[in-house]
Amino acid sequence: MKRTLFLVLALAAHCSAAGLTRGDVVKLKRGDTLMLGGKKFQQAAKGQEFTVVKTDLANVFVAYTNGDGSVVAPSLPAENVEVITPDGWADIMAGADAFREQRWDDARRLFTRAGADAQQKPLAAALLPRVQGALTAGNLLRSLAADPARAATAQKGFLTTLQTLRDTAAQLNTTGRIALAVAIDDGAEKLAAAVLGANTAGIPATKLDKATLGARAVTAQRAVARARQSIGQHKLIEASALIDEGLKAEPGRLELVAFQTKLKKDMEEAEYLYKTADSMRTRGPKGVIHSLSALEDGLRLCSDHAGLRDLRKQMQAQYEERTSPLVNAAFMAKAKGGNDKALNEGRELYVNRCTECHDLEMLDSRGFSGWEKTVGGMARRAGLDGGEQSKIMAYIAAALNVVGE
Ligand code: HEC
Repeated sequence: MKRTLFLVLALAAHCSAAGLTRGDVVKLKRGDTLMLGGKKFQQAAKGQEFTVVKTDLANVFVAYTNGDGSVVAPSLPAENVEVITPDGWADIMAGADAFREQRWDDARRLFTRAGADAQQKPLAAALLPRVQGALTAGNLLRSLAADPARAATAQKGFLTTLQTLRDTAAQLNTTGRIALAVAIDDGAEKLAAAVLGANTAGIPATKLDKATLGARAVTAQRAVARARQSIGQHKLIEASALIDEGLKAEPGRLELVAFQTKLKKDMEEAEYLYKTADSMRTRGPKGVIHSLSALEDGLRLCSDHAGLRDLRKQMQAQYEERTSPLVNAAFMAKAKGGNDKALNEGRELYVNRCTECHDLEMLDSRGFSGWEKTVGGMARRAGLDGGEQSKIMAYIAAALNVVGE
């Protein structure tokens, strides 16, 4: 009995979300639904990135930032995420946070690892020795408590390293690296308090307006979190606005700069697809198909593009004709058999249940067997029973004849 319990516990520990811990960044292996309090919270796309808050046996709970800045922790199945190796910038940010929180070994480790990233090597090479220098000088001073003569010199040395950190923070601020500047400056203060205690004489003053800068760093951090979410949802217009807002608060926030670069190409492509869709729609039936497919590609890339959305609305009737034609007399004439009431039921299920998470695709995007596979694969997500699935397939089979005409 005891052994069984042990085995279960051992298994449990092993299964506990594959060694993921708080602060890890994970990426979705395929599209999935974020759950919050037992309810569907939001769709998340393949490749979308999240920061882990906690884990349990089968789930990871990730940070999700709402529009008002509040953070909730919806969950995802652990088997569907993989951990991402942090880049040098992430290590530097995490290292500065560790320094601020007096986790000095972590700070050293993270700054050292950041040095392996070619792009961040210069910054890591500037930060590590200065932080390291202050920590070493602090340790020396503490070890000399019983030796006042030598302690006086050591104290001078320590205060110099603190001044260097204050200056470094001021420099980081002038290059727009605000969060980093504040973390290093706060870290220096905490270190001074830890080493000198009440003996605060001679501690160099900060050169930063920390109330203002701290608030700006928070704004930028929020913008990073929300822009990442918006990009994951392909809301690129929303993401762009968040990036602009974040960069205004913290011009040197590298995540935002990187997002901006990544977005530029996709937004240009969406704009191009919009122009294509707009110009092709008046060029006969073939043009309409071309236009609809450009619209679909464009919206998949950038779901909140105003022009694409507007065009999509204008072309709703043509869209419906290509994705989910109504079951009427014209339909039945081309459908090659079937019962119109049953077909209509299949259509209703199809247009209602398969649009919970995304738009319908063009029927001619795949053949019957392709649809059979897709509907089979999506049935669980749509919560369809076998009978409902068959009804949808009967409708799609008939509609393929209608669209194919
Ligand atoms: C709960 C959300 C959800 C529901 C409901 C849903 N899908 Fe999907 N569907 C997705 C996601 C997410 C993807 C993205 C690809 C993936 O992750 O597999 C997707 C992708 C697709 C694709 C593209 C597949 C490919 O291979 O490119 C098609 C077609 C599709 N779904 C059809 C359907 C149909 C038909 C239904 C109804 C039976 C349906 N979906 C219901 C979430 C859903």
